[in-house]
Amino acid sequence: MRSLETVTMTFATAALLAGCAGNAANPTASSPHARSMMLGTPIVEADISAWNIDVRGPDGQGLPPGSGNARAGKALFDAKCASCHGAAAAGGPMFGTMVGGIGSFKTDKRLLTPGSMYPYAPALFDYIRRAMPLTAPQSLSNDETYALTAYLLHLNGLSGEDAEMNATSLAAIRMPNRDGFIVDDRPDTNAVRCMQDCRPLRTSVPAP
Ligand code: HEC
Repeated sequence: MRSLETVTMTFATAALLAGCAGNAANPTASSPHARSMMLGTPIVEADISAWNIDVRGPDGQGLPPGSGNARAGKALFDAKCASCHGAAAAGGPMFGTMVGGIGSFKTDKRLLTPGSMYPYAPALFDYIRRAMPLTAPQSLSNDETYALTAYLLHLNGLSGEDAEMNATSLAAIRMPNRDGFIVDDRPDTNAVRCMQDCRPLRTSVPAP
């Protein structure tokens, strides 16, 4: 009985392998695999725009229309974010605090928060819009994303509770670590190494 089972198994495995080999040898566009990947289907503008959501840090170019304030952001945060980030973003089961630590980069105990680290406020909008909530990325409306951004900035003491965040006001916020980054001039970055009359370290990188 035992050997019969083994024979049956071997047969089944061989049949499976033969099936795979058959597909690999003939990867036509009509194969189920190609169809599921929509190979050969021209992409339309609307499909591209869903991915074309990058926002430029220094001046916020690419920020969408819409607005929101910290008051609205708090309600959203409590409903959609606090389960992982804790109440008032003070730290939760999935991530440490997103508040405070401003100036800590000059000490031995750096605290990485958006307030202490991000050089540009539009980057916070960009991060939330494309990645959060972790379980449903890109599910937030622009107004919601502005409101959540406003709330996190407010918690970090960088904007008022009623300050309306939109494409203009968000880009106008000066983040404390704005000048904390230096140009990465390794060859593959295309940045230019300065050899004389250079801008002092830790001064602003001009907007492109
Ligand atoms: C299911 C858990 C979960 C939920 C819900 C969630 N987050 Fe996150 N969040 C994370 C994790 C994990 C990270 C770290 C990701 C990484 O480092 O790659 C993170 C990172 C972040 C960061 C970057 C922090 C930094 O220091 O750079 C921000 C901002 C953020 N989340 C905002 C939000 C907002 C706003 C919401 C609600 C709309 C939200 N998150 C909901 C788990 C979650």
